Amino acid sequence: MVYFSRSGNTGLAARHVAKRLGAALYPLQVPEYELGLGGLARSAFAANARRTDPATLPEIKPRQLDLKPFDTVWLGSPIWFYSPAPPIWAFVEHNRFDGQHVVLFNTFNSNLGADQIAAFKAKVMARGARSFEHRQVLRGRMTQQLTPEEMLGAIDAEWFGAHHP
Ligand SMILES: Cc1cc2nc3c(=O)[nH]c(=O)nc-3n(C[C@H](O)[C@H](O)[C@H](O)COP(=O)(O)O)c2cc1C
Repeated sequence: MVYFSRSGNTGLAARHVAKRLGAALYPLQVPEYELGLGGLARSAFAANARRTDPATLPEIKPRQLDLKPFDTVWLGSPIWFYSPAPPIWAFVEHNRFDGQHVVLFNTFNSNLGADQIAAFKAKVMARGARSFEHRQVLRGRMTQQLTPEEMLGAIDAEWFGAHHP
């Protein structure tokens, strides 16, 4: 399970799902998008720039991972401006998924673009994947957001059809 999380929501979801599945966890680091106003401005600018020019991608660490041992690869990211955030696009650009099942999962507040998910799927398939699935957890607009516990409960119910213990 490879994920990028700026403010912790996707990270919380990733750790929860990884624990459920007994999966290895690989966080992607992008120092330029750190918490704080500067990082927020750079995040917004980058998300916008990538939408105009899909080749505009950030430096991510790690850039490549040996994912060959895995049959299924989960890719986690927040939604920025209706699309998965630039770091996860960068990861797809630098890696291959030959013969693998890829699951993209997103946390977001309110709006996500189906065209962006379709474009992400096309890119993953072009990098060798055999199949693609999308999972999402809607957190709700600010002031009426799911609590972390509620978010994990929604993941259990909606992605795994189970009750949160
Ligand atoms: C630059 C930026 C743009 C965002 N754009 C959207 C958006 O278009 N739609 C949406 O529903 N949420 C949007 N969000 C909210 C995040 O998707 C949401 O808070 C997510 O859970 C954050 O995940 P993280 O804590 O793992 O970084 C945006 C957040 C940031 C920082």
